[in-house]
Amino acid sequence: MRRYAVPAPPGSQITPESTWLRRRQILKALALAGPALAAGCGRAEDGAGAQAAELPGEPLTVTGRSAYSTDETRTSLRDATHYNNYYEFGTGKDDPWRRSGRFKPAPWSVEVAGHAELTGRFALEDLVKPHTLEERVYRMRCVEAWSMVIPWVGIPLADVLKRFRPTSQAKYVAFTTVERPAEMPGLSYPVLRWPYREGLRIDEAMHPLALLAVGLYGRTLPAQNGAPLRLVVPWKYGFKGIKSIVRIDFTESQPATSWNLSAGDEYGFFANVNPAVSHPRWSQASERRIAGDGLNLLGNRIATLPFNGYADQVASLYAGMDLRIHY
Ligand code: MTE
Repeated sequence: MRRYAVPAPPGSQITPESTWLRRRQILKALALAGPALAAGCGRAEDGAGAQAAELPGEPLTVTGRSAYSTDETRTSLRDATHYNNYYEFGTGKDDPWRRSGRFKPAPWSVEVAGHAELTGRFALEDLVKPHTLEERVYRMRCVEAWSMVIPWVGIPLADVLKRFRPTSQAKYVAFTTVERPAEMPGLSYPVLRWPYREGLRIDEAMHPLALLAVGLYGRTLPAQNGAPLRLVVPWKYGFKGIKSIVRIDFTESQPATSWNLSAGDEYGFFANVNPAVSHPRWSQASERRIAGDGLNLLGNRIATLPFNGYADQVASLYAGMDLRIHY
């Protein structure tokens, strides 16, 4: 999706793989001994074929299978954590895992502002603790026409948002990613207007499929996937799934979003997966399901489904809207 030629980073900025784990800090941030996490009744499966020594993050206790999960073959943990988009670390698919070793996901807090009765700064532990963690195996369809099937661990976004008691003026919810140039080498390139921003209409945000994720494959999120807290909206293109969230705003008007600001003709606010509306530079009719062959552009092509296969659950949110215009 990148539009501008970005100079290659000097070799000295490349971080060795061995430094990418921040186990203790993540453990502390999620307060694993907390009551909500202990309330779970099972352990999520680890990624297929992953060796214990390679596993990122710390194990999480989650509830059993969610009715919202797909049975499709899961993408390997290796692919899900080594083929990423996280432009704050660079625009290459391997930049996020290679260059995120300096990123500190703890301590972490989220500023909540705007049209809600309860606003202020909240520690991540306090946001997560009252909730039971669920595993949701979702399809993820990137706007670049590749896809994965990822077992996320998280909390329905609605359950967290309701605790702030949004007022009737809250028509949208806006999210902002942390902006730390010393830890995120991609921020020195003007590929996007930083910080990364995303947003949802309030009814989209309150839909039960929208998830605030703290983990994947039963473990806390690694930096490259958006540690320690990211959004997952499975019926929309992956760029709506904003990573490393530090701010949530309840707004009355539609918030500005990074990709829409940078290339509004290519990336709309709604960004619902729609095989009938081509990106100006490529078709959205099909996608590559990544299976150990991330850079092979000819691999594994399958048809893309309206709303990424979640139409039964979400199409009614857009009744009466022309999705060719409101893309
Ligand atoms: N969030 C931030 N802050 N920065 C990014 O560059 N990339 C988005 C989204 N969230 C991005 C982001 C895009 S384009 C996709 S496809 C997904 O993250 C990829 O998520 P994953 O790397 O965990 O698979």
